[in-house]
Amino acid sequence: MSEKINVTLKVWRQNRGEKGQFKIYQAREIDTAASFLEMMDIVNEQLTLNGEEPIAFEDDCREGICGCCGAVVNGKTHGSHERTTLCQLHMRKFKNNDQIVIEPFRAKPFQVLKDLIVDRSGLDAIICEGGYVEVKTGNAPEAATTPIKRELAEASMDAAQCIGCGACVAACPNGSAMLFTAAKVSQYVLLPQGHPERTQRALNMVNKMDELGFGSCSNEYECTVACPKGIDVKNIARLNREFIKASLTSHS
Ligand code: FES
Repeated sequence: MSEKINVTLKVWRQNRGEKGQFKIYQAREIDTAASFLEMMDIVNEQLTLNGEEPIAFEDDCREGICGCCGAVVNGKTHGSHERTTLCQLHMRKFKNNDQIVIEPFRAKPFQVLKDLIVDRSGLDAIICEGGYVEVKTGNAPEAATTPIKRELAEASMDAAQCIGCGACVAACPNGSAMLFTAAKVSQYVLLPQGHPERTQRALNMVNKMDELGFGSCSNEYECTVACPKGIDVKNIARLNREFIKASLTSHS
């Protein structure tokens, strides 16, 4: 059964290029059945009514699908509930009179645009470097004509679950995008359809990641813990193998 709780929010407010600071807000009579973002909506409504600027945050699907939402809640990316995006976090996870500290994802390549919104376009740029296939293929072939081992298909689908939220980057002490890039490389390379461009894809994506200032992986494993989709670090090992093979092949 839901109940009403009062919580104190300590929220990071910042304009682009300016210094930021925490500000305190009270969220009163919040139904524990509300989602975290609905609670933020209620606070913003009150701020607007008071003539104050609402807290800027990103969201879209509110179903854990799009990867738009994201903030650090009480020191944890997307909050402390495992395998949960910020939009799927619920107020029943908090107690009456709790203080909730809300900050943007912090990483060198993620510049704060406003309050809790950071520029994650670097992740899009890495995907773009992966390229795309442009061939006339006619109708889609009968699926059963390309036999794929079940374990490979499942591993590819698991990697494809990455929603590109950037929590892995924010959780990593090096600000590395290795888990993200590894998921994107893996989802293709595990399937025969992804083999033709595998060399260039691995090289380009890793080089782009380095160019944009994302750090390297030092096996902290914070990324996989923070990932709301539970992307496995085994994908990073696969990316490393792909990158080494691609480097050797392209040099020869
Ligand atoms: S708003 Fe789409 S994943 Fe949270």
